[in-house]
Amino acid sequence: MQIGKATAQAFPNIALIKYWGNRDPLLRLPANSSLSMNMAGLTTTTTVAFDDSLGEDVVVLGGREQSGAAKDRVVKMLERARAMAGAGANARVESLNNFPAGAGLASSASGFAALAVASAAAAGLNLDERALSRLARTGSGSACRSVPGGYVEWQAGTDDATSYAFSIAPPEHWDLRDMIAIVDVAHKTVGSTQGHALADTSPLHAARVSTIPERLSQVRAAIESRDFASLAPVVEADALAMHAVMMTSNPPLLYWQPPTVAILHAVRAWRTDGLPVCFTIDAGANVHCLCESSAADEVTRRLRSIAGVQNVLAVSPGGPAHCVENHLF
Ligand code: PMV
Repeated sequence: MQIGKATAQAFPNIALIKYWGNRDPLLRLPANSSLSMNMAGLTTTTTVAFDDSLGEDVVVLGGREQSGAAKDRVVKMLERARAMAGAGANARVESLNNFPAGAGLASSASGFAALAVASAAAAGLNLDERALSRLARTGSGSACRSVPGGYVEWQAGTDDATSYAFSIAPPEHWDLRDMIAIVDVAHKTVGSTQGHALADTSPLHAARVSTIPERLSQVRAAIESRDFASLAPVVEADALAMHAVMMTSNPPLLYWQPPTVAILHAVRAWRTDGLPVCFTIDAGANVHCLCESSAADEVTRRLRSIAGVQNVLAVSPGGPAHCVENHLF
């Protein structure tokens, strides 16, 4: 019999100051604080139904029933929700993305944010945003940034209680656009959980982490004053620094493909010519081109003319993760 069911939706987020490396991999306490924008239009919708007639948890992602590591990661979060609620029933989880998973489009961020919100609600827990952000963080670090809305900072903190994300500005504060140049839709070969574990093996990791406090305050200030010219060089510098850490870890991680590099050069040249656009890249080959809304059509047109660009997805600042349906039986 179903004893609680909830459906939640969440957007992925694009980090302007990146998260790479954990101080505590189990709790996903990050090596550094980070800052992101939620991406409206790319949506994960997740339903959790606790049902005491189920012999075990059932996890269906994108229409496919999961087993092994992918299932275990979801079950761990259900277990946290059950422990908090003092409940024992197994659950059926169904999750759908309206965008390709595993292509550097942060599907784990929206996925675990939606799962945290849906499982807490279905378990009858009344968690505030901070507690939901902490719960989401344990599934995927960047997921904690998809719980609050708009422009979001994740303070690294020193333990589970102090490592959570909060909104620094609502989506309507600044109509930045992220035009995502898709150059590769394949599932990435080394996922970010494995990648984070390698950060410490790079001689550049500590150097990058030491730059974060100053870069964070520059990005925060640029967002507050909607100052694209100040934002752009810092966003690019941190993305390149994170990829330098990836490329110099042992074993090295090289996510870029030839069109990735072509886009980096093009974006820099366009900005020099006066177009307000800059790039950032997650753990994948696709390039996120952030721009002011007035430049969005021109950026799309130019991206589409670059060889190897298969598609351009357009996103604008998104709101918080939220419940769309909740029944306690
Ligand atoms: O949350 P994870 O483990 O998928 O890590 C995300 C890491 C990056 O996307 C590369 C950077 C970031 O801050 O989102």
